[in-house]
Amino acid sequence: MIKTFFIRVYGCQMNFADAERLRRALVGSGWKETENPEEASALLAISCSIRQKAENRVLSFLSSYKHLKKKGTVLCLLGCTANLYGEEILKRFPFIDVVCGPNHISYIPQILENPITKKMVLTGENSSPFMELVESNEETSMMIPITKGCNNFCSYCVVPMARGRLQSKDPQKILKEIKSSVNRGVRYVVLLGQNVNEYGKDFKNKCDFGDLLSDVCKINGLLRVGFLTSHPEDTSKKILQIMAENQNVIRRLHIPLQSGSNKILRNMNRKYTVEKFLNVVEMARNLMPDISITSDILLGFPEETDSDFNETLKIVEKVRFSELYIFKYSPRPGTKAYLLKDNVSKEEKEHRHRTLLETQKKISNEIMQSFSGKTCEVFIERKSIKKQNHFIGRNIQDFPVILEGTEDIIGKIVRTKIFNHSDGFLCGSKLEEYQ
Ligand code: 5AD
Ligand code: SF4
Repeated sequence: MIKTFFIRVYGCQMNFADAERLRRALVGSGWKETENPEEASALLAISCSIRQKAENRVLSFLSSYKHLKKKGTVLCLLGCTANLYGEEILKRFPFIDVVCGPNHISYIPQILENPITKKMVLTGENSSPFMELVESNEETSMMIPITKGCNNFCSYCVVPMARGRLQSKDPQKILKEIKSSVNRGVRYVVLLGQNVNEYGKDFKNKCDFGDLLSDVCKINGLLRVGFLTSHPEDTSKKILQIMAENQNVIRRLHIPLQSGSNKILRNMNRKYTVEKFLNVVEMARNLMPDISITSDILLGFPEETDSDFNETLKIVEKVRFSELYIFKYSPRPGTKAYLLKDNVSKEEKEHRHRTLLETQKKISNEIMQSFSGKTCEVFIERKSIKKQNHFIGRNIQDFPVILEGTEDIIGKIVRTKIFNHSDGFLCGSKLEEYQ
């Protein structure tokens, strides 16, 4: 009988990258993916613990399928939540069979090969946490985890507990993986890490993120290189210069500001000031006038007053981010801030969230509008699901673009004239096709 798996992913791009590797490994060893959890022999949920809500969502997802146990379906909780709570999860959710943190996901295909006769818990650190890539000829873009874990210890953040300490992947392995993927048709890679700028800080030799980025950009046949996420404190002039010198690097810098108040930044242990943040923005814009800067804001951190919030609003208006991800503070066990009183009321958090969203919506709209009439080079990723004969791609600033075309443009760069924007997409028409 063919074994089938269903996979549900929550959280960040790291989880989506893990899911993709796991999917390929399972398919490579004879499994079939199903879109129906009821049909699956293994139900895999890759979890996120960044906020309480994310945690609740994954646990209620698995709970809603506990009836499948009767059929012998194996229920697996993978990722950050699994790592944070380990064995404890099994007490509250006894129907879960496998609890496996992000550093051990590569063992899952092997674990599922044999009947599960007892509960399995795999958590904590692992000296080789990176999952090998089973190659495929189907993809034109790919996410490449280059670090695991994080050493920053922002006071609100569960990541160092959920994913462990920083571990960087060997640069030669990264380059080899990308080169062989390019040989199979990949044209666009995104280098991933909780803070990519920390890359290499755990190495004895001196390879840092700038060196890696520079080597990746030079790989023949690679049309686009992106990276996520940068920490404002570690975004050096060297990295910005390497971006500026290499035309295939995405002109987008995602640098989470979190707050526009120096008092709050200090309490968050962010290690930079608003002035330093603005300096990074200025440096980036001087070197790359067309760069798109995106950010995260964390609202309602303990002791955030109206005046602190107004400072955040002021910086958001000043910087004019192309996109902003806005989150309401959620206390996380094990973090330093967990010991502080969560003293901004739910209503106040809601109110600040709405205010900031409205401000940002206007700015994002104006930035999208400014592309109208301009020509962009769009890397085409996939067919549109909603609109017939239309394709989705990204311009060099990483804005999503929709345009009419034919299958053969996938994986290519298409010169596109933008005429409008709608639902978060720039709408364009194809001028000519090349590369
Ligand atoms: N509560 C709410 N949002 C959080 N983030 C990180 N930790 C928390 C938390 N405890 C947000 C930050 C981070 C993004 C990925 O999630 O803004 O940049
Ligand atoms: Fe969520 Fe953070 Fe884990 Fe990503 S690393 S899944 S954002 S808790």
